[in-house]
Amino acid sequence: MSENFIQNLFANRIGGSNFGKDTVIYKFEKIKRAKMSARKAHPEIDIIDMGVGEPDEMADAGVVARLAEEALKPENRGYTDNGIQEFKDSAAKYLERVYGIKGLNPETELLHGIGSKPILAMIPAVFINPGDITIMPVPNYPVMGTLTKWFGGEVVNLPINKENNFLPDLDSLDAEIRKKAKLLYLNYPNNPTGASATREFFKKVIKFAKENDIIVIHDAAYAGLTFDGEKPLSFLSVEGAKDVGVELFSLSKAFNMTGWRIAAIAGNELIVKGIATVKDNNDSGQFGAIQKAAIYAFEHPEITQKISDKYSRRHDMLVNALREVGFNAVKPKGSFFLYVEAPKGIKGGRRFESAEDFSQYMITEKLISTVPWDDAGKYIRFSVTFIAKGIEEEKRVIEELKRRLSDMEFEF
Ligand SMILES: Cc1ncc(COP(=O)(O)O)c(C=O)c1O
Repeated sequence: MSENFIQNLFANRIGGSNFGKDTVIYKFEKIKRAKMSARKAHPEIDIIDMGVGEPDEMADAGVVARLAEEALKPENRGYTDNGIQEFKDSAAKYLERVYGIKGLNPETELLHGIGSKPILAMIPAVFINPGDITIMPVPNYPVMGTLTKWFGGEVVNLPINKENNFLPDLDSLDAEIRKKAKLLYLNYPNNPTGASATREFFKKVIKFAKENDIIVIHDAAYAGLTFDGEKPLSFLSVEGAKDVGVELFSLSKAFNMTGWRIAAIAGNELIVKGIATVKDNNDSGQFGAIQKAAIYAFEHPEITQKISDKYSRRHDMLVNALREVGFNAVKPKGSFFLYVEAPKGIKGGRRFESAEDFSQYMITEKLISTVPWDDAGKYIRFSVTFIAKGIEEEKRVIEELKRRLSDMEFEF
């Protein structure tokens, strides 16, 4: 045995023999560290955590009760492989009722996932050969891009920002890229920008996909969380979408079920079949009792409505507070993210080189945690999933945030 042989055996995709020696500290780790040192430096002040990307509340009591009931049944004890049929049948009904997706065959066009993240991670295994391209708008949830590279593929990034209404400019892709591209990832309402797509944009996407033989993966993780009369918009509800793509519906955010690990993927039969084959070799299905608790959730879409109402209220408060201290904050149509341009500096004071610089300032000096994005412009993301029980506490948190940002003037 040679000394250190394990270090030399790591695959190149995670750094090869340099695995673990990287000294670069990644964004989320930096935020974690900055939060820890801020807490240490000011133990008497509460951190206002607007950086978290998951709900602050438990799953609905009815969902929890169904899990408890089903967990006791011997028939739910075993592997579920590619999922129980009741889950698929119920998901198809839910998708028609909430998103207007008609005509899905729950036997062949629908699957469950142990959350949507592992499904996104598996899709490149289904389609990507070395040299193939996945088109990823940035910023975005990066999993499908990372795994594309792990399978030897390439990622082509398209910036989304204020100038293009946070919708990627597909026309900007040249013939060579279009030819090599196999997958297009989209996520609306979007993490981190909070931007929503339109039916017109999805129609354009379908035309583009058909013209260029490209598969569309629409990640609808936040699609149920819409406000102010805005209806949830599904890619699959647009005519022709099923010819070119699939859509992922996570229960994590729509039903406060992040830790439960359950999602549905629906759409094109052949794509679903490919994913089922790879999935079957990766996992043995989510616990049947969790799939059955998810059926309870599917049968109660009003749970999502209640969650949306809360986020909408919090967005209103946060947008007002941020506008009062100078940010150009605009309430999104959906999701729990509020994405705002980072200031260039403070009047008569320090400059911010990047969104990350500003975010570090916010946590260190103001004890307000946010997430920065410097991929396409300089933006920071606030999340309205901050911890607060009830309206009065929410108001207190927002008032405190405003107070902490009121003793200076930001320059944009
Ligand atoms: C856009 C997007 N897609 C997928 C996920 C993963 O969700 P799940 O819990 O279903 O794996 C997240 C989680 O933050 C997300 O933001």
